[in-house]
Amino acid sequence: MLGLLHPTDPVWVEQVEGDLDGLLSDHAHCEMKAAQSALSLVGGYGADVPELVDPLMALAREEAEHFAEVHKRLLQRGGAFQRPATDDYVTSLRKIARGDGSNTPALLDRFLVASLVEARSCERFKLLSERLKSEDLRNFYRDLMVSEARHFRLFTGLAENCFGVEDARSRLGTLAAREAAIAGKLPLGPKVHG
Ligand SMILES: [Fe+2]
Ligand SMILES: [Fe+2]
Repeated sequence: MLGLLHPTDPVWVEQVEGDLDGLLSDHAHCEMKAAQSALSLVGGYGADVPELVDPLMALAREEAEHFAEVHKRLLQRGGAFQRPATDDYVTSLRKIARGDGSNTPALLDRFLVASLVEARSCERFKLLSERLKSEDLRNFYRDLMVSEARHFRLFTGLAENCFGVEDARSRLGTLAAREAAIAGKLPLGPKVHG
């Protein structure tokens, strides 16, 4: 799905069912980090790459809205918004992109790592939309799955427009293989990427 090379074991959904509040709290943090990451790209690269400003500001607004929706659901269930756990998945992904000694432009890797995070979230939300017991939550995650697929295309599109289709796709293939290795190694738990 979306170029991912390691499918998530559906048993993950059973773990999520055991701690839905934990999942929603972690998920809220993921949405917040997605908004922050879009803003940081605008701050870091908007002057040199003006075409990224409008789409990434729109993305930041959308992710902030997602944060608000997830946070509201969490509180409505009587759950607590907890301090963020370390996100081993995203941390590892950033490291393997920048630590490989290649001379890939940093912005290309930023776009592609973001696209892989969106793809993995999309894959996980699809599982939730198909397998959670609550119909309400299944519908909620179906809508978010569609957004994440769109965000995946936004980042791959930016990568291809700014760095050329061939280079962008080739690097995405390399990073997707490394992403699969990380996703296969991390223990499953009630977290979006855990
Ligand atoms: Fe989102
Ligand atoms: Fe997203």
